[in-house]
Amino acid sequence: MRLVFVGPPGAGKGTQAKFLCAQYGIPQISTGDMLRAAKAEGKLPQELVAKMAAGALVPDEVVIGLIDERTKAADAALGFLLDGFPRTVPQAQALGTMLAARNRKLDAVLALEVPRELLMERAVYRRTDKRTGQIYHLKYNPPPPGADLEHRADDREEAVRIRLDTYEAMTAELLPYYEKLGILRRINGVGTVEEVTGRVSRVLEALGNSNK
Ligand code: AP5
Repeated sequence: MRLVFVGPPGAGKGTQAKFLCAQYGIPQISTGDMLRAAKAEGKLPQELVAKMAAGALVPDEVVIGLIDERTKAADAALGFLLDGFPRTVPQAQALGTMLAARNRKLDAVLALEVPRELLMERAVYRRTDKRTGQIYHLKYNPPPPGADLEHRADDREEAVRIRLDTYEAMTAELLPYYEKLGILRRINGVGTVEEVTGRVSRVLEALGNSNK
């Protein structure tokens, strides 16, 4: 199964990806996580660190290169879930070309839809455990005592606002692109984590049945 998760900042892509990947035995490939890991290792150029902290996108060629490499790894041979990539039409086209060269294609693009007014609160109160990568929310999913918590640099209100604007501008082109290819599935991301997981699972079950 080769899947893409699209959704605004704080929509729950990372949260849902963890369940899906465990269920289907495929790796979660998050360009955001890869860029943050490169930053933590001191390998991300300073201008890209600044772009991310401000809530702007990094250049297409940077993330396309990361995805090209990562999707060639052995653990991605049977499938993967791309979380946060592609975000622009040139990225989507590059992904299509990359997969076609390997005689592969995407099964579905899952668009997690959450209204803007809920997203700010989800992002600003998010905390991630540095050791496990587990995502928490100070209000809806509080971390256990002793967790080694990190507050992302781009989860400040001003940066989240910019990320939301960027997302809205970007999806105006990206979602119609995948809609035309007939692989876009829109999923309501409002509700508890479990409710959203149920909706995502039903979409994937329907997809599995239609491919039989
Ligand atoms: P990235 O890391 O991809 O961030 P994002 O897309 O902004 O998404 P988030 O990680 O903020 O949200 P999420 O949907 O995963 O939500 P989560 O599950 O954590 O990108 C970061 C930056 O990297 C970009 O701004 C850009 O600079 C760069 N970048 C990355 N990819 C790029 C690309 N392709 N091109 C160019 N630049 C790129 O949930 C959020 C919170 O809500 C959590 O606290 C969670 O516990 C809570 N929550 C989740 N679900 C629910 C629910 N149902 N109810 C209540 N709370 C919930």
